[in-house]
Parts: sequence; structure tokens; C-alpha cells
Amino acid sequence: MNPDPHTSPSPAPGTRQSSSPEQSPSPEKIQLIFATNNQHKVEEIQSAIGTQLKVISLREAGIDIDIPEPHDTLEANASEKSTTIHRLTGNNCFSEDTGLEVAALNGEPGVKSARYAGEDRAFEKNVEKLLQKLDGSPDRKARFRTVISLILDGREHLFEGICAGRILTAPAGSKGFGYDPVFAPDGEDRSFAEMTLEEKNHYSHRRKAADKLVEFLRKTIP
Ligand code: IMP
Repeated sequence: MNPDPHTSPSPAPGTRQSSSPEQSPSPEKIQLIFATNNQHKVEEIQSAIGTQLKVISLREAGIDIDIPEPHDTLEANASEKSTTIHRLTGNNCFSEDTGLEVAALNGEPGVKSARYAGEDRAFEKNVEKLLQKLDGSPDRKARFRTVISLILDGREHLFEGICAGRILTAPAGSKGFGYDPVFAPDGEDRSFAEMTLEEKNHYSHRRKAADKLVEFLRKTIP
């Protein structure tokens, strides 16, 4: 972790930015810091959320920090990230942690998905290791699970999204990131990496968790 993060968030995320005191603020003006440096995730979440709120990445918020994920559950890692950013900025924010859970590997790589093949978090090496471990296995069942942790007015709320599917025998496609080239959701022959963002979002774990987040915000922030 960078011990001296530069924090200069642009205008008070998690609050509405009304252009004049009389004008009733529009939902498009709600901003929330997303505690991630992964631009793919920012795009996916923003696309899932639509125009109802503006998602600001750590970089856009001027926060230079790499938050560790030391825990053994997705929930605890998501909490670690959101509470760290909340502590630093005092702003409403959210984070997410995702794992790929493979049935034949007893849920591996799970919470260790990013570092499955080593600390350098290389997507290709992780995919390679996964395919090797599953080599010859007829059971290819897997699922992505996302946990979003939202800190709103100092209170934490968790949202889960699951996408069931299977691990392909070889990578296919060049879009997306991580395990996308070897994961096909149920009902599809194509891998996530062969889909447009909109197509991936139709099935996506992250999309499902984001939908719950948006639903909650809609109810909570009138
Ligand atoms: P993180 O710890 O939430 O950043 O995610 C752990 C790892 O899971 C990432 O490094 C990716 O390899 C993988 N991952 C997370 N989400 C996805 C996804 O939507 N598609 C493919 N791989 C993903």
C-alpha cells in the first residue's frame, strides 16, 4: 500500500451535485468512488449502472493506492477496500471483490483468483494454471461470484452477484480480462472474451451485484 496516498477527490462523491439551490438535483449527478484501479471493472460497473450515478475510479478521484486483499473471503476483502477508502476520504464509496469458483477444484481459485499462479497477478499465467489443473476433467462447472461493499453514510451494505457457467478447454476471444477467455456462462457457447461488454453484462456476476446496488441506492436516496 502506498503510505502517502494523494487524495483530492473531485466533487464530494456519494452526494448529489445540484447546479443551483432551487433546481432539484437529477440522479445523473450522484457520484460514488469505486475503490479499484481496474479500468475494466469501472467500465463494466458504469455500463451496468447506466446514467443513474457516476462511478469515479481511484485514479479519477486522485487516490494513488493499491489496497491489499489479505483476507480469505470475498466479503472481507471487499470490506477492507471500501473501509480503507472511506477512512481516507470520508466519502461514500464502494468496492468489489470477485472470485472464480471451480467445482472440480473445491472452489479454487476463489478468493485467490488474482494471484492464482503468483504474486505478479498475470492473467495468462492464471488461465494456464487453471487449464492445467482441469486437464482431463469432465467436470468443468464453475461460477463467478462478486461481492460489492457499499459504505453509505458510514454504514456498510453488501450485495452479491453470481454467474454460473463452465471452464472451456482452451482460451477463446480477446475481449474482457482475467479468466474471460476460458469462461462461458450457462446458455452460451462463446466465452466472455468473445462477447461485447453489453453481451457479457447480460450474464455477468458483476452486473447482478451492481443491479442490487443500484436498486438499493434508488430506494435509499430518493
Ligand atoms: P479481484 O480480486 O476482484 O480484482 O479479482 C480477482 C481476479 O478474478 C482478477 O484478477 C481476475 O483474474 C478475475 N476476475 C474478476 N472478475 C472477472 C471477470 O469478470 N472476468 C474474468 N475474470 C475476472
